[in-house]
Parts: sequence; structure tokens; C-alpha cells
Amino acid sequence: MARCRGMCAVVLLLVLVGAKENEEDCSLVQHSRKSSFEHEEKLKQEGRPASVPLLETAEKRDDGYHFDLFVKAGPGVTITGLPFDRSSDADAPYGCGSGYLKCSCTYTSDGFRMTGYGTQGTMTALDFTCHDVIYSMPGHRPDTCTCNYTAALSYWGKARRFSQECSPKQCYKFEDYPGAPGGHVQDLERFHHPNGGGDAEKVIDWSFSVQAEALGSVVPETPAAVLGGWKPVASGAALSIKQSVTWSSTQTKASAKEVAEAFTAGSKYTFSSTESVEVPEVGKGEATQSVEVSLSSTTSWKNTITETMASTNGGAQEVTCNPAPCPSGTSYQWQTSVEKLGKWGALFDSCFFVCMPNQGQHPKCPFGTCCTGKSSDQCSTCTVQWCSESDPDCPFSDRSFKVAC
Ligand SMILES: *[C@@H]1O[C@H](CO)[C@@H](O)[C@H](O)[C@H]1NC(C)=O
Repeated sequence: MARCRGMCAVVLLLVLVGAKENEEDCSLVQHSRKSSFEHEEKLKQEGRPASVPLLETAEKRDDGYHFDLFVKAGPGVTITGLPFDRSSDADAPYGCGSGYLKCSCTYTSDGFRMTGYGTQGTMTALDFTCHDVIYSMPGHRPDTCTCNYTAALSYWGKARRFSQECSPKQCYKFEDYPGAPGGHVQDLERFHHPNGGGDAEKVIDWSFSVQAEALGSVVPETPAAVLGGWKPVASGAALSIKQSVTWSSTQTKASAKEVAEAFTAGSKYTFSSTESVEVPEVGKGEATQSVEVSLSSTTSWKNTITETMASTNGGAQEVTCNPAPCPSGTSYQWQTSVEKLGKWGALFDSCFFVCMPNQGQHPKCPFGTCCTGKSSDQCSTCTVQWCSESDPDCPFSDRSFKVAC
């Protein structure tokens, strides 16, 4: 038993030594891989006698090679992307430790960070890349770019490098921000020193914090396109009807504030005079037959939208409402689609109804301009002339159709 224990210890020791040797083999292989940067650096140094003390110092401190860059996402900027690729050596020809665990590319709501260390006990410095870092800044041109960052510290000399390759070439600029730890923008510019030289001493531990701000010009806001219409929902006896917000895309929901702000001067309001309104397809433009509505007749539309937005909590909760009884007629529900070009679109089904006689006699006026006095016929005539009689789809183009309640 005791002998076995001794044997086992020997075996274990052999395994450990083996593992250590393998690790060193790996690091030798790693070292012989040539990044052009390190290779050129090596060639440059060959004229000089190898400086043994430098090598020894460097060897002891190899995991002291450190590069850290934090990019804070500035106002209106978001940074997303891929984590550091540990599956191949392509993104870390030097350093990053065993399994490349000492390098990372991380993304938070604050911004992006690339961090890398050299590999302890090996003759490598540091050279690693963060791929496909995506900057997005809606409202600017360009509004996105995808970048590769490479940070490298030479083992052999004082050369060091930080490269930013973006497509399209530029969409952000780095700025200082108050209270940032580490080096600032100018320090990062000074860091890039591919030929070495410069500082008297070799520095191997670097960290920077910068803020990325949109570089491109601001694209003027496009006014919202607003289409309102009536949808037949029930005949006769009252039913429960859904009040809802349906977003064109769940990825591009707008906040209540953004929705309220969409109704700027220049927004175009149209009324779908024959059909109900569909969820807008952002970028498609409207297809429904519709009549342009004079702006003064649209103030109450906004209220139906903000009210729907508020009571459904931006579409997150369902609300039911009951139209007033509409005996021997049809209830119509007011709907509005809003499209903020290239940003978001939504259909707002409100809790406002009119009762029309018979089956399918479409209301003649948009919400807020119906003569609602007669409970069995609430929208056959209008309180104002809400469209231009020169528009053939405007009911007022027929001279016999008059403002009358
Ligand atoms: C970033 O790196 C990837 C992978 O090597 C490459 O396909 C892409 O073209 C690079 N992008 C830029 C902007 O250089």
C-alpha cells in the first residue's frame, strides 16, 4: 500500500513534469509563429549583440505585459460585438496565457473593454486583436461602423502598436472624459510607436480610457407619417375589444417620450377613408388609399396615441375596453399607425369607438371631427372640413357633402 503511494507520487510527478514540458513546447511553437510586427522587430535587433540582462528581466516579467483599453460609449453611441476568439491563435499570436484566457474583449452597457496580458514564463510579449467591434449611433451619417483593434507590445524592443481598422473607415472619434482612469486620448496616440524608440525606459504595462463620440454629421429627423382609420369591430351587442400597441419590430420599440416627440411640425397625417389600418412596415411607405388631413384636425389623434401608449405601458400589457352599445349597427374602433422612417413604427389600437348604422357604412371623418350627437350614427357627417375638396378621395370633393351636425 505504502509502496503504491510512493509509485503513484512518482507517476503524478512525471505527469506534472510532462504537462509543464508540453506547456513550454506550446509556448515555443507560439513564439516561432511570426507576426510581421515582431518579425521585423527581431530583424532590426539582429545587428545588436543580444542583451542578456534585458532578456532575463523580460522573461521574469512576461505576464507583466499588459494592455487595457476601455472605450466608454458616448451620448447616443452603443458598442456591441463579439467576445475574444479563443478558438484559434489568429487573434493572439503572442501572449494571452494558456488557452488565451488572459485576453478578453467585453461589452457592457457602458462601453467596450479590451484587456490582455502576456503569458507567464514564456518568451512572448503581447499581440492580440478584438474583432468586429460594432459602433452604432443612430441619427448620424455614417450611423455605424465595425472595427478590428490590435494591440501589440514587442518583446525585443520598445516597439508597440495599437491599430484601429474600421469599415466604413471612420464613424466615431475618441475624446477624453472627466475622471477617466489611465491614459487619455493623447496617451493612446503616443502609445502607437511601431518602430520603438521614444521613451527612455521600456514600459510594458499600459491602460487607457477614452470616450467614443459620433463623428458624422447629424441627419435631420424625418417627420413621422401618421395614418388614421376606422376598423369595424362589432355589430350590435357590445363586446370586449383590445386596446394595444403593435410594434413593427420588437427590436425598435420607441419610448413614450419618443412617441410624443414624433409629432413634430412636418408630420404628415392621412386618413384611410375605406380600409382599416395595418401595422406599418418601416421603410415601405404607405400603400392604403388615404386622404391628407389638415393639421388643425389632428390634435385629438395624438391624444388617442399617447393614451394608448400609457394605458398599455407601451404595448407591454393588454387592456380591454367596451364600446357603447350600437344596436343594429356596427362599432368602429379608431386606429393609428405611426412610422418614424428608418427608426420605428407601430399600430395603435385605441379605446375610442363610433357607432355606424347598418353593416359596413364606413365613418366619413377622422377621429375628433365626427358629429357624434346621434348615438346610432356617430360619424356620417363632420364638424369641420378636414380635407381639401380638390382631393378626389376627400368626401368634401362631392359638393353635396357639407359640414353639418
Ligand atoms: C476584421 O477582421 C475580420 C477577420 O479577420 C475581417 O474579415 C474583416 O475584414 C476585418 N475588418 C476590417 C474593417 O478590417
